[in-house]
Amino acid sequence: MEDLSLEPVTAANWRDCAALTVHPEQRRFVADVTHYLCMCHYGDVWSPLAVVRGRAVVGFVIWAVDDDGSRWIGGLVVDAAHQRQGIGREVVRRLRERLIAEPGTPNVALSYQPANTAARDLYLSLGFVETGETEEDEVVARWTAAR
Ligand SMILES: CC(C)(COP(=O)(O)OP(=O)(O)OC[C@H]1O[C@@H](n2cnc3c(N)ncnc32)[C@H](O)[C@@H]1OP(=O)(O)O)[C@@H](O)C(=O)NCCC(=O)NCCS
Repeated sequence: MEDLSLEPVTAANWRDCAALTVHPEQRRFVADVTHYLCMCHYGDVWSPLAVVRGRAVVGFVIWAVDDDGSRWIGGLVVDAAHQRQGIGREVVRRLRERLIAEPGTPNVALSYQPANTAARDLYLSLGFVETGETEEDEVVARWTAAR
């Protein structure tokens, strides 16, 4: 997917990020993008990225570094109008490659609600493995690069 890129959230594109919406039945699985943007801005843990296809913002994702060096991917949203085109898969694949390349990164982690079968299928198909850990009400899965 050559026209896809992960770009910094800026004064020029934050409104497009904030305007992203998911299908009504998916709303229980994620917070509003505005919530994630505030978390990134006012907290010191998470960093945001805009998912841009062509010139349009079609998705959003956040990432963080844990105490043990593992990198977390969170807040993944693909706009309802752009779902099922392989964007979510490409975003996770690209972001984890970028994160695992940082020195001292043992694995890449993420979490999802047990009922979020679309997200679970996506992550497990990419080689993430459920570890038995939980994060609040979510299941944790991790991916370690083959050595
Ligand atoms: C989960 C989400 C990010 C997937 O994004 P996407 O761009 O539609 O995903 P892709 O097109 O790359 O699909 C990848 C795989 O995910 C699964 N999947 C995605 N949407 C699905 C759906 N509506 N129903 C069932 N499986 C689905 C499938 O396994 C799919 O593979 P396939 O197309 O070969 O069957 C998107 O549905 C979304 O934004 N959902 C709402 C927010 C959310 O739940 N985020 C994740 C929080 S952990």
